[in-house]
Amino acid sequence: MENIVFYFSGTGNSLKVAKTLAKELGNCEIVSMGKSEKYNVIKQYDTIGFVHPVYYWGLPKKVVEFIKNVNFNNMSSYYYAIATYGGIIGNGNRQLNKLLNERNIILNYGGKIRMVANYIINYDIFNNISKCLKRADKKLSSIISDVRNKKNNKIKKPNKKIEQIYQNAVQSISLVQDYNVNDNCIGCGICKEVCPVGNIEIINKKPVFNNKCECCVACIQYCPRQAINYKDKTQKRKRYTHPEISYTELSKYNNK
Ligand SMILES: Cc1cc2nc3c(=O)[nH]c(=O)nc-3n(C[C@H](O)[C@H](O)[C@H](O)COP(=O)(O)O)c2cc1C
Ligand code: SF4
Ligand code: SF4
Repeated sequence: MENIVFYFSGTGNSLKVAKTLAKELGNCEIVSMGKSEKYNVIKQYDTIGFVHPVYYWGLPKKVVEFIKNVNFNNMSSYYYAIATYGGIIGNGNRQLNKLLNERNIILNYGGKIRMVANYIINYDIFNNISKCLKRADKKLSSIISDVRNKKNNKIKKPNKKIEQIYQNAVQSISLVQDYNVNDNCIGCGICKEVCPVGNIEIINKKPVFNNKCECCVACIQYCPRQAINYKDKTQKRKRYTHPEISYTELSKYNNK
């Protein structure tokens, strides 16, 4: 039987998880939730997975939009979701379960993996990356075994207070207008390649940002010249991308 895993990823954590799952499950397609407007799930899949980062204690807007619009033909598949997060998961998988329930689908299993917190706009990247990712790999192995065994777990309803905070954040935060590009930029186009939602154009050898930014920070983190910054906040902060996910790898999956 075939499998499919949908992912959304800015700095590679969630793609690393999706790729490992796909490899271990076998016969598994990997599809980005970033660019598709209305995806049609046409085949009879044995398992259907979603791997996503946590944003503002909930789901990236694009993931919400994808799940609202995807066309599922097969209710009898085993559905699972894995949230990657930096410290506080909030409503992550709970929100996803609610969205699927509205489509008459039950999320059989929700898992979470704490990985490196990548939100450079708010804080610097911490130093013990390899320790954190080692722990994450261990957790991923146990989640893969759960998915293989089609384990079910109970996913609670979203917490209302957290939901309110999330809604306020996703509706009001539009940070991209305060991104700036300095003279270190060499016009290589890597920022455009890694943007999961196609929000960047290169004009006159410089990135120009449009208005559908998810604030995934991929452009800031993958730029080889550290030329993209948020206000004057990020210039001195370290950059982080998952060590196994190069920009070519992320770009290949994002643009499939
Ligand atoms: C806009 C934004 C908001 C975030 N909010 C949260 C959060 O509420 N809780 C948390 O634990 N991590 C948060 N993070 C960290 C990411 O969830 C975490 O680093 C994730 O693994 C990144 O996955 P990716 O590399 O696939 O993009 C946030 C990151 C970004 C970019
Ligand atoms: S990745 Fe950096 S150097 Fe390359 S075009 Fe974008 S901003 Fe310029
Ligand atoms: S413009 Fe940058 S931060 Fe915004 S979605 Fe694209 S890569 Fe992410």
